[in-house]
Amino acid sequence: MDNKFYKINIYGCQMNVHESEKIAGILEEMGYTFTNDDNLADIIVFNTCCIRENAENSLIGHVGALKPLKKKKKGLIIAVGGCMTQQNGVGESLMKTFPFVDVVFGTHNLHNFKNLLENRIKTGKRVIEIKEGDLSICESITPKRTSYPNAWVNVMYGCNNFCTYCIVPYVRGREKSRMPSDVINEVKSLINEGYKEITLLGQNVDSYGKTADFNYDFADLITEIDKIEGDYRLRFMSNHPKDVNEKLVLAVKNSKHVCRSIHLPVQSGSTKILALMNRKYTREEYLEKVNLIRRHIPECAITSDVMVGFPNETEEDFLDTVDLVKQASFDGAFTFVYSKRKGTKAYDMDGHIDEAVKKDRIMRLVDVQNAINREKSKKYNGKTVTILCEDYDDKKGFYQGRDEFGRMIYFYSNKNLIGEFVDVTVVETGGISLKGEIKG
Ligand code: SAH
Ligand code: SF4
Ligand code: F3S
Repeated sequence: MDNKFYKINIYGCQMNVHESEKIAGILEEMGYTFTNDDNLADIIVFNTCCIRENAENSLIGHVGALKPLKKKKKGLIIAVGGCMTQQNGVGESLMKTFPFVDVVFGTHNLHNFKNLLENRIKTGKRVIEIKEGDLSICESITPKRTSYPNAWVNVMYGCNNFCTYCIVPYVRGREKSRMPSDVINEVKSLINEGYKEITLLGQNVDSYGKTADFNYDFADLITEIDKIEGDYRLRFMSNHPKDVNEKLVLAVKNSKHVCRSIHLPVQSGSTKILALMNRKYTREEYLEKVNLIRRHIPECAITSDVMVGFPNETEEDFLDTVDLVKQASFDGAFTFVYSKRKGTKAYDMDGHIDEAVKKDRIMRLVDVQNAINREKSKKYNGKTVTILCEDYDDKKGFYQGRDEFGRMIYFYSNKNLIGEFVDVTVVETGGISLKGEIKG
């Protein structure tokens, strides 16, 4: 039989990247081989995201661009899945807009993806399956991991927080935690296979176990995983500031493998806006959490997500955000312009902000964070740090890796060091990424 090829186009967050590894696992089991070339592919999958409007727009453009190829290659199968299709009515309207799309599936339909494809192939009929309601966790899919030495492991799915700007709870459903033993066994085998950095994933890892019928929280989970012997690092994301507590911080502090690095999305520095966002903490309470972390682990990196332009955000509210960003002195921050998402509470709020004002605010915010990054970079000058070599950058001709605080460092080596912990001395500091030389 001829080789059959698949390609996956991935949008959105780390969760989606990992989910795409599961899709790849299913396809490989069905006998497909990976390709990066649309022309070679027998099946092209889009794993979509709808967190912001531009994520959706780029997806629509990319699917549309396949029309001529599909005309030329009748057997080509195009499948669209993920968060975007799970929104109210969007899956159906994608089927209408793109008559050449063969399979549309929701975020809860991954375990059935093989059947959907087989149906399409057998019957020649287009298939759509979008399951509403609770997710049933499927432990039987073996992901095809593509990021050695890094590996991602879900600890939970879904979100119960309903931040008023956010579409995730609507497209990913309610929180569901995996059994501790399933998570621990997966991490164990990854370490045995030689993976060096394991990142535990959840929309809000701190609520791990809260809605489950076992009495075991996230701090317990990382403490247990940390006992696994081996040369590896453990990370996790994301944290919700309302749920970060001393037990978790101490678990990080007392561990051997957990990186001293915590992603703590703040969103806004204005208590008024935080309330409108339904974040369940005030500006002061957030800064308290930052203090809690730095009190126990002074060197801990804290990174964040910050948003501008939420409805009713005044210049004063924005300046509160800028002030908080300076005060917290983040080791890195993802900055976002608020994007209206149909179906969320904020969509129907009054007081939406002008695009030009949003643009101005994001530029000012980015400047502030860049200045902090530069200051922090300077402190690296001349320092020797241990990094995990993760990749080789063809264009730059450098290997690259991150220290435990998440800082990317580029360095030259004449031998392949991917997957090894390497000591490098930082010789050049620019923006957020640094250049180093191998020690010795
Ligand atoms: N569950 C994680 C990640 C959520 S999505 C968390 O709570 O941290 C990642 C980030 O996207 C969010 O932290 C938020 O800053 C941003 N985001 C979510 N919805 C958005 C929207 N409608 N417009 C702009 N940014 C948004
Ligand atoms: Fe969205 Fe808030 Fe849940 Fe994060 S915690 S996924 S921002 S609703
Ligand atoms: Fe992630 Fe986008 Fe869905 S951020 S959870 S892929 S909406």
